[in-house]
Amino acid sequence: MSSLDGTALIDIHTDRLGSEVDPNVYAHFIEHLATCIYDGIWVGPGSCIPNEDGLRLDTLQALARLHPPLFRWPGGYFADLYDWQDGIGPREARPTRVCPTQINREETNAFGTAEFIRFCQALGAEPYLCVNTAFMTGNDAGSWVEYCNLDGNTAWAAKRREHGYQQPFGVKYWGIGNESYWRHSAPDYLQRYRECKHYMCNADPSIAVISSGLEPNWRPEPWGREDWGTYLIRETRADMDMYSIHTYFNCGHADEFSDQQYYELFVKLWRRLPRSIQATAGLLDAHSAFPRETKIAIDEWGIWHPGWPMGPDMRQPSTLRDALFAAAFFHICHDHSSRVAMATIAQTVNVAHALVITEGERLFLTPTYHVFDMLQNHMAGRVAQVAVSGVSRLGRQDAGLEDEPAGPVAEPGTPSWTKLVPTAPEEKMMPPLLWVSATVDESGSCLTCSAINLSLSQSIPAQLRLHGTARPGAVSAKMLSSGDVRDQNSFDNPQHVVPVDMHLPPSETEGLIDYTFPPHSLTVFSIEL
Ligand code: AHR
Repeated sequence: MSSLDGTALIDIHTDRLGSEVDPNVYAHFIEHLATCIYDGIWVGPGSCIPNEDGLRLDTLQALARLHPPLFRWPGGYFADLYDWQDGIGPREARPTRVCPTQINREETNAFGTAEFIRFCQALGAEPYLCVNTAFMTGNDAGSWVEYCNLDGNTAWAAKRREHGYQQPFGVKYWGIGNESYWRHSAPDYLQRYRECKHYMCNADPSIAVISSGLEPNWRPEPWGREDWGTYLIRETRADMDMYSIHTYFNCGHADEFSDQQYYELFVKLWRRLPRSIQATAGLLDAHSAFPRETKIAIDEWGIWHPGWPMGPDMRQPSTLRDALFAAAFFHICHDHSSRVAMATIAQTVNVAHALVITEGERLFLTPTYHVFDMLQNHMAGRVAQVAVSGVSRLGRQDAGLEDEPAGPVAEPGTPSWTKLVPTAPEEKMMPPLLWVSATVDESGSCLTCSAINLSLSQSIPAQLRLHGTARPGAVSAKMLSSGDVRDQNSFDNPQHVVPVDMHLPPSETEGLIDYTFPPHSLTVFSIEL
């Protein structure tokens, strides 16, 4: 393990503020996969599981505590297999279809557009719909916008009213296709994108359009499409409100991984995500014909452990490691808050990197849920300058990388478009052992500082020092950790990994906080200014 040089110093400058963290960075993705929607969110009005007109009450209550800003729906993969017209009107008249994403399942269409809107409204969240570019036309996509957003006399607006919804749903965010590089060549998608965008914006010019895109450092060369994203951005001249990338990670098995694999996961995140964001931003800027910075939506992200989706339930164990990973993901988004305007975790309930797990009447919250809860005050905060000193970065040997060549290390096989990103000097290739991010809220009256101690074995004694004109007031802190980083919650032991309130002794000097970060932990300080 890397040596510590006495006490670490965390210097936070409350007067040196960068961009705002878009609240939509703390957003969600729910899809018709396994039990994410049916059971996890929708049980139907006749269910013995307590519900609010079909929406599962315990899930709603758990999610409400997170103040979720936005949900993406209906997929994912499912979006390009979904006919939105199957999910409107009286539920008893909707067709039951063969589930397009899973064998031996039926899709009842009980959860359709209106139910999704009601779910979002119940949580005060924005809806984000993704249209089908595979077998639906641009006109069909425009009709969905018309059904949701128009207030006039057009046929689809009238149909919505006929279905009992006088007021338009007001859906602002619209995605065009999902991971379309799997399905369409770049020219083919470009044509579909243009056609959908035309009809959709013609129906409602105020919508925000999100194009399907491709994470640049991720290379599906076997399919020969590494220039897919470049082609799209160049040909559209970045004519989109947001460009979508998806990013999934893993290292070792979900709850059976070595210490080295634990560390290596964070090295992968540290080396890949910032470069992906910067390379994407570089491309968008290089080709944009518009006087604006096209934003990036990471509208699927998370840990996708090997073997998933193995079973029909598509669940995976979710440990403290996954939770610390989520916190580190958010810290990187904060660092790139001027460009990353949305991130939706895959997926909120039951599937993949879930926050909430349900089964029948039971429900428990994963450690990742608690990270969303603990970090929520970062939403809409402005990123404060932070300098951490007196503690080394993660050691190469800890992540099993001691044989890496010396000197500035380029990612092996980096595709050409990432040339836009300068190669990091060698020491910057390893993530910080003490990984800190801080934001000041909109009113300037609260500083939120989150810190991850990645070390599996060492506590890190530290001193937080506040600089700036604001005088610090009351301080509170919450900490998430557990005896083993492989620990997780379960139906039988739902409180195994939960945050605890930390008692902070009053500081003798104004603006100073002394604190020792436990191993493999996340601590979040709230400091009144
Ligand atoms: O999140 C699960 C799946 O992963 C989504 O449906 C798809 O878009 C992605 O490949």
